[in-house]
Amino acid sequence: MKVTDSIKVDYMDPIKQLMDEHRVIERVVDIFDKIIEGLENGIKVSPELIMTNIGMLVECANEYHCGKEESIIIPYLEKMGKTDLKTALESYSNDYNASFKYIDNILEVMEAYASGDMSVAVKIVENGLKFIEEVRPIFEKEDEAVFKILKQGLDKEELAQLGEVIQDFEYSWDGPLLMNYQKMVREMERKAGQLIW
Ligand SMILES: [Fe+2]
Repeated sequence: MKVTDSIKVDYMDPIKQLMDEHRVIERVVDIFDKIIEGLENGIKVSPELIMTNIGMLVECANEYHCGKEESIIIPYLEKMGKTDLKTALESYSNDYNASFKYIDNILEVMEAYASGDMSVAVKIVENGLKFIEEVRPIFEKEDEAVFKILKQGLDKEELAQLGEVIQDFEYSWDGPLLMNYQKMVREMERKAGQLIW
């Protein structure tokens, strides 16, 4: 497949792309779950793996995906008068952002963990479990409550208009795009899969 073909496919179905991004983020959270399980079992998981996982959450989920929802989708829903969908999406977005405090708590102790202080593993586990519990179900709920309903309610022209504004975001975004994240998460799954506990 040529790059232009994939752009065309994304452009044709902007809502499917947003839901595909959810699937990638869920896979990143699932790897995080495996990391936390290892720490719970007393394994010294490599700090690099933890930081790579958190880094991908920040870039792919917070900046790329949630950034798009907050700067494009929420204003679009407002403009289209779809108040219920806008309120629902804002609420999921707020829930996600609020849960990120647990990741901030983990980041506070990562330097100590990286220098060999295993006593902070308890804090990583506690906060990691809370983050996973709160965040993991959000994306599927958002698909059901917002994106599937939005897709049914838009005609072809409206979908194309939404695709256009999303494309503007993609062009101005200087980080990896969905296809790149899919490759990155596969690589991270491979690395996490080699760890046995
Ligand atoms: Fe989302």
